[in-house]
Amino acid sequence: MNLRIPGPTTVPAEVAQAGAAEMINHRGPEFAAMIARTTEGVKKVYQTSNDVETLTASGSGAMESAVVNFTAPGMHSLVVSIGNFGERFQDLVGIYGGVLVKQEYKGGQAADLNKIEEALKADPEIRTVFITHNETSTGVTNPILPDLAALVHAHDALLVVDAISSLSSVEVKTDEWDLDVVLSGSQKGWMVAPGLAFVSVNERAWARADETASKQPRFYFDLRRHQKSLETGQTPWTPAVSLFFQLDKALQMMEAEGLENIFARHHKIGSMVRDGIRGMGLELVADEGVESDTVTAFWLPEGVNGSEVTKIARDKYNTVFAGGQGNLRGKIMRFGHLGAMNEADIQAGLDALKNAFADAGYKK
Ligand SMILES: Cc1ncc(COP(=O)(O)O)c(C=O)c1O
Repeated sequence: MNLRIPGPTTVPAEVAQAGAAEMINHRGPEFAAMIARTTEGVKKVYQTSNDVETLTASGSGAMESAVVNFTAPGMHSLVVSIGNFGERFQDLVGIYGGVLVKQEYKGGQAADLNKIEEALKADPEIRTVFITHNETSTGVTNPILPDLAALVHAHDALLVVDAISSLSSVEVKTDEWDLDVVLSGSQKGWMVAPGLAFVSVNERAWARADETASKQPRFYFDLRRHQKSLETGQTPWTPAVSLFFQLDKALQMMEAEGLENIFARHHKIGSMVRDGIRGMGLELVADEGVESDTVTAFWLPEGVNGSEVTKIARDKYNTVFAGGQGNLRGKIMRFGHLGAMNEADIQAGLDALKNAFADAGYKK
């Protein structure tokens, strides 16, 4: 089956095979050498010298870890939401007792730095700002991260960035942009099966974790524990060892391709998808100029049933597309183009989409 969804993405055969290696002791020397290697590799992709923790969890686990380590009950957090995954941060902040200040945008829009500044000025108690870099539900990439970090720090707050569906496909310069906490997940551009998540933590963020330690209960996702274990070549709890084998291999492949080439490839195939979809007479959800290079969301035209299109694409053309989430369910479709994807894969995906639309009765 050809996956054209925004994660899980295709796992290259070499990576899948690496994951089938004989099991090892996760408290032994082979694992210690491997986690040292993968952590260094992940840091390179993050463009950071900050600490990076690898959690056995999906991306939402990384999100939860950010909330339990860097916020406390009663602490004010601004959550900037441009879609479904921004809403997930809102839920998490509320569940863990934070005072939630919401800023929401219509599907397709990117966040506005001036509005964020207004919100920070209006509530000087805001200590943390949460933002989604690449909103997978709408196909929008927020382009403001470096300026946002400067703004947030000028207000003495901490910035948490969900880069789950961008980092490793699209440039995220963690250190140069001074991003305090950055999250990513293995099943996206990393070309690894679902189940590992990454969290980078800088000094500012560690200070916050210490400040909130006695106020916010945390156990599985206690990042201090993860860092302490990492320094002895371990994880605090039993890790998904087979996924570490996969990650080790995928990082070698990424290193061989080179980050710049990876980003250029994603930009190129992203443009190809956008051109192809517009060429079918369809309209993108993302506003012009903020379209994502990892996922493209587009409106379903009048009279075309998205579930029918995805069913035909799957059954007849062996290709899996994604529907809409939340309030966009039934209104949009999404084409994922991240990870192990080349131009031929994209062309095949576009052909399948075109045929499935035609079979569902769509005429341009
Ligand atoms: C931007 C973004 N944030 C968070 C998540 C949640 O990750 P997971 O589904 O791995 O828990 C996803 C996954 O689709 C995502 O794309």
